[in-house]
Amino acid sequence: MESKLRFHSNTFKIMLVGDPHCEPNDSTKHERDVIKDYLAFQYAAVEREKPDLVVLMGDNATGNNAEELRKTLLRITKPYADTKTPFAFILGNHDLQVGVTELSEQYEIYKTLPGCMLTADHTAAGDYNLLVYKEKEETPALHLLFVYSGSSAEKAAYGYYDNVKPAQNRWIKDTCANANERSGPVPSVLFQHMPVQEEFSLLEETSCLSMLTDGVYGQNEQNGRFFRLKKSTKGYMGEAPCPAAYNSGEFQAIKETESIFAVFFGHDHMNDFIGMHDGILMGQCKLSSFNAYGDGLMQGVRILEFEEDAPFTMRTRMLYYRDLFGDECRSISGSLKTMRDRTSVKLETTLKVLGVLGAISLPLITVKLLHRK
Ligand SMILES: [Fe+2]
Ligand SMILES: [Fe+2]
Repeated sequence: MESKLRFHSNTFKIMLVGDPHCEPNDSTKHERDVIKDYLAFQYAAVEREKPDLVVLMGDNATGNNAEELRKTLLRITKPYADTKTPFAFILGNHDLQVGVTELSEQYEIYKTLPGCMLTADHTAAGDYNLLVYKEKEETPALHLLFVYSGSSAEKAAYGYYDNVKPAQNRWIKDTCANANERSGPVPSVLFQHMPVQEEFSLLEETSCLSMLTDGVYGQNEQNGRFFRLKKSTKGYMGEAPCPAAYNSGEFQAIKETESIFAVFFGHDHMNDFIGMHDGILMGQCKLSSFNAYGDGLMQGVRILEFEEDAPFTMRTRMLYYRDLFGDECRSISGSLKTMRDRTSVKLETTLKVLGVLGAISLPLITVKLLHRK
């Protein structure tokens, strides 16, 4: 496997894998089905897309100890090792909650995995960056930043989730400045598990009645409010974003780099929307696996395609499990298999309710009218 990332035939393709949530257990049939479906999806997606890099978007894997975690990680990254596809990763809020709870110890385990691109100079906070070089020159054409957005908030006053720290915001700015200084302006893309609060700019507030169609209710600090996607935001939202309650100014730092043009997040399993805010493209990767909450058979990975001579013109799309396997799935059954998306399900339910109400009220109205005569 080449140690440097490089464009080939003017293209560089990244496959983002949201929230794998894999566990070491495989003693029950369901546990075995979950991992079989996940691996089948990953093998098929890598085979079809042939990405130059895979990024695990956090909430990757657990193990009760280092050995178990390494075993789980080896298992879930096998599709990339077998196809000689390098992978990068970020950790999510759940990765340090079970077994191996030290970030440095987790990183030591990741470093032993075939094809893992984690660099030796990652920060103590867990951040690192990679450069993607031009095909025929030792000049970077694309810069990738991987930021750890933490786990639970340090103090109850800061809400539920941890936040990116001011020192990390400085690292984002310094790292981009260094890359630009060495190689001229290098278009940059940032990946992290938890979304920034500014993601709400891609939504609009609506009424509780929207819950019957395309609305979702706000969670944590947004309790009691309802949201739907703005018309300019593309994709799908099955739940309200869950960023940290405390905003350390990361989005502002991203903007100030003047080279980061897109940021991608995981964490919110049911969202794959994408939109622009203040000159920055923000995109969600939804759940790619079968072991955590989701919204039926809607698992997917996000594909990013860059051109060497114009990385800013990045194209992105979702590739869903359903695109590759239809409704064939071992670990999901019943009506969840046929669920297409939350909006259509809500509309269908609303129409059914109206139909039932109509069926009940029609005879009553008829009887009443007859009685009048
Ligand atoms: Fe998750
Ligand atoms: Fe998460």
